[in-house]
Amino acid sequence: MSEAVLDRFQIFGGSSLIGDVSISGAKNSILKLMAVTLMAPGKYKLQNVPDIADVTMMGELLVSLGCEVKHDTLKCEVEIIVPEKLGHRAEYQFVRKLRASINALGPLVARLGRAEVALPGGDAIGSRGLDFHTRGLVELGAETTNEHGYIIASAPKGLKGARVELDFPSVGATENIMTAAVLAKGRTILENAAREPDLIDIGNFLIKMGADIEGLGTPTITINGVSELHPVDHAAIPDRVVTGTWAFAAAITQGDISIHGARPSDLELPLDKLVAAGAVVTTIADGIRVKMSRRPSSIDVSTLPYPGFPTDLQPFAITLNAIADGSALVTENVFEGRFMFVNELLRLGAKIRVDGHHASITGIQNLSSAPVVASDIRAGAGLVLAGLVADGTTFVEGAFHVDRGYPKFAEQLRALGADVTRVP
Ligand code: UD1
Repeated sequence: MSEAVLDRFQIFGGSSLIGDVSISGAKNSILKLMAVTLMAPGKYKLQNVPDIADVTMMGELLVSLGCEVKHDTLKCEVEIIVPEKLGHRAEYQFVRKLRASINALGPLVARLGRAEVALPGGDAIGSRGLDFHTRGLVELGAETTNEHGYIIASAPKGLKGARVELDFPSVGATENIMTAAVLAKGRTILENAAREPDLIDIGNFLIKMGADIEGLGTPTITINGVSELHPVDHAAIPDRVVTGTWAFAAAITQGDISIHGARPSDLELPLDKLVAAGAVVTTIADGIRVKMSRRPSSIDVSTLPYPGFPTDLQPFAITLNAIADGSALVTENVFEGRFMFVNELLRLGAKIRVDGHHASITGIQNLSSAPVVASDIRAGAGLVLAGLVADGTTFVEGAFHVDRGYPKFAEQLRALGADVTRVP
């Protein structure tokens, strides 16, 4: 294990976060855009790329398939050269570290007629099936099997457009089926599709590449297959989850943060919830400002697919409720394992009772510092914020989880006045 993997955050509680932050491109968009470049040979430039560990890992996967990848962290750009002759096997070593690798499935089977992508296995936030992905590809005429830990999809004669209805508006399944349908013969109608802004970004990227897609952002996406695509340049949309994290951070610490480069229209419900908690949310020239001048009031939250409350912001809603005035119910409808984070908050003195996918929280004035462990990206960031409203010094183990989604998290917190360091 490298030293960085063993790093932890040391947080001295008590400071309000005040100042400015800038939002870079969305992790959930850029990783998928990188996978979609596999659809056509040539040179791509992706802009607004966050400096996070997951981009490096996705780059490694693309290199293993034969691409050249250059990540310029100063310019926030990734240049990708996709070869004419491309590998079709995404190995377990990449997929186990980065679930977004599964987004190579649709592009590879559509372009090469064969894809072998390792099954990602378990995840700290709960079981994350792939049955909708494979069922959709089968509707498009592929054969899929599960052999030796890999999903094998083959369509030697190409894919054919079809009507595909998802049981649940899964983001990943919508992405894989939509990308595969772009190079299929004829029309695909994808019903009960996901509507997440990141998915719309992927769709717009494909349209720039020459795809014929209608209905992005609605539950019915229509794709008329085209015979080929061409490489393009594209800037990823701002990260709505990182934006939401800073917005909650301001509210939790009774701070005042101007979030530049943010797109508030992607976060209407979470921002409304913060207003209900007592925050003042205003639009500024290039983003939003969130200010909280008193102890937050409790807010009930129920996670749902977009435009519902994002599951990725649920740990911050629980942290806010843990120190809020009143009691609240937080319901997790997307990932059952996300409440693992609650056990760590209990170590910080929070009053939370979990019953199935409901957490009932009674707010207390202050949390009490302790060593805790991050289980995933958002849980890690949530625990760091909890440490800011705990008395004394909190240690959050597993800083590498946070690196996967937040560029320079500790530096940004210090710039906002927090006493947070990263220690080996
Ligand atoms: C999910 C989030 C997305 C978030 C991302 C990163 C939702 C709906 N999706 O996307 O907003 O940005 O995590 O954290 O909130 N499922 C199956 N079979 C499948 C596919 C999914 O049962 O084939 C289930 C999953 O187990 C889960 C739900 O559907 O309970 C949503 O999964 P999905 O949207 O596919 O997850 P991600 O694409 O990872």
